[in-house]
Amino acid sequence: MELLDAIHTRRSIRKYLSKTVPEEMIEIILKAGMAAPSAGNQQPWHFIVITDRASLDAIPGFHPYSKMVLQAPAAILVCGDPNGKKWPTFWDQDVSAATQNILLAARDLGLGTVWVGIYPEKDRMDGFRKLFALPDHIIPFALIPVGWPDGGFDAVNRFRPELIHQERWQSKKSDSPDSCLFQSMKRGFKLRKRSELQAHAEHRRKGAPT
Ligand SMILES: Cc1cc2nc3c(=O)[nH]c(=O)nc-3n(C[C@H](O)[C@H](O)[C@H](O)COP(=O)(O)O)c2cc1C
Repeated sequence: MELLDAIHTRRSIRKYLSKTVPEEMIEIILKAGMAAPSAGNQQPWHFIVITDRASLDAIPGFHPYSKMVLQAPAAILVCGDPNGKKWPTFWDQDVSAATQNILLAARDLGLGTVWVGIYPEKDRMDGFRKLFALPDHIIPFALIPVGWPDGGFDAVNRFRPELIHQERWQSKKSDSPDSCLFQSMKRGFKLRKRSELQAHAEHRRKGAPT
């Protein structure tokens, strides 16, 4: 699967088939998580792989938006570990990047996931700390239920040209004339396949008129 297809068809999947997820696949998606960028390459993360039914079923008891986990055969608890790191204040950005990599890698394998937020909600954090015996310096960040989707992955288009500013902040269209690129964006490029975009870029690089 091409990366752009994975990005555009990754959806929050909250219904799963009753079918286990092979351990090899969990390893592949964790590897993708750990390949994420982090400040100073500090990698301030830990991951708890949860397949124990009783543990999974206990989660909605303290997290109000996690009922999908009752159906999920597995989940990954993504944790932050800023302690002693060079850039501790960036930990949540680092761990977010790892979380998104996991979602995309799972999509590539045909697995369904959903980012269930924990940090910085205290009640949720306390619940995870207790259930999974986390040391005090480890911060539960997000839960990612993982399973085979009961349904499809739909592409959505959330592109909003009005949120893009050219060269500097502009609140009005009349602030400065748009470049050709921005005019095209606002008209809406047709979504093209990567191979077509590469051919187009190569064509332009060689100085050919577009
Ligand atoms: C920080 C964060 C926290 C979220 N928390 C929850 C959650 O607690 N429960 C849930 O069902 N979905 C949660 N989501 C998923 C969003 O609802 C979902 O990403 C959004 O509606 C867009 O849908 P999509 O993921 O299918 O593109 C969370 C997403 C993010 C990024």
